[in-house]
Amino acid sequence: TAYENILVETRGEGPLRYGWITLNRPKALNALNDALMDELGAALLALDADEGVACIVVTGSEKAFAAGADIAMMNPFNFPDAYRRGLISRNWDTIRQVRKPVIAAVSGFALGGGCEVAMACDMILAADNAKFGQPEIKLGIIPGAGGTQRLPRAVGKSKAMDLALTGRMMDAAEAERAGLVSRVVPAAELHAEAAKAAQAMCGYSLLALMATKESINRAYESPLAEGLLFERRLFHALFSSADQKEGMGAFLEKRAPNFTHR
Ligand code: HXC
Repeated sequence: TAYENILVETRGEGPLRYGWITLNRPKALNALNDALMDELGAALLALDADEGVACIVVTGSEKAFAAGADIAMMNPFNFPDAYRRGLISRNWDTIRQVRKPVIAAVSGFALGGGCEVAMACDMILAADNAKFGQPEIKLGIIPGAGGTQRLPRAVGKSKAMDLALTGRMMDAAEAERAGLVSRVVPAAELHAEAAKAAQAMCGYSLLALMATKESINRAYESPLAEGLLFERRLFHALFSSADQKEGMGAFLEKRAPNFTHR
């Protein structure tokens, strides 16, 4: 498929490989418009459906992961148009449908919708030059794709309020302290670090990867008792997989496992 606003590849060694999506509107610091979001949604679903793919990395440029929704595009909208067309919203539920792990590798600005795309991914690896924020308040609007919902779940109420009400940016070190990002690495090593994490996942059972993602996401959708039950059901279910026998058998035989994803 030919994309105009993103670059899509499959990378890695071995039977399972990983998808690599680069947001690519450099002139606008990867500002998100409907075309880019449609392409991102389509690429994520295509990689999710590809049986040779274990997980997906989403990244931007060194200067910007994405500087938010495209302000020039949004400016003329009125409510009826925004509502009817689902302004910058129709593909956010698409991201949630992806069942394989999605790693955001963030360098530079992740602001507004850019921060929200990163938060919609399953984990965020940050370069030491990354800057996160929800500056919508400066434009007379509020975050529209999770900034008031995923951000407080990630960093707590006080810091979410601070960021969204003052519009200030948070650097990578603060984002790591706050729990928004899983690790911070020098900018020059970001892609290698993301590739290493993705390649590690490629060596595991796809069933177990998908079940892990599904179960952790359940923590955000259900009371603890329900989440624990959901987890236990999936845990028990995986004992019907060949990969469980292979993984445990390989450990006991002191050899590397060779998962078949069945
Ligand atoms: C459209 C944008 C843009 C954006 C940057 N550009 N951000 N265009 N929408 N969100 C464009 C600039 O207009 C400029 O184009 C080029 O990218 C380079 O940006 P500069 O501002 O010249 O770069 P710099 O001085 O380095 O400043 C970087 C920046 C600043 C701090 C990131 O660009 C900025 O504040 N951008 C807006 C951030 C923002 O408010 N984001 C939230 C948007 S609202 P030209 O043609 O002049 O070179 C939002 C709502 C989400 O995201 C709703 C749900 C998805």
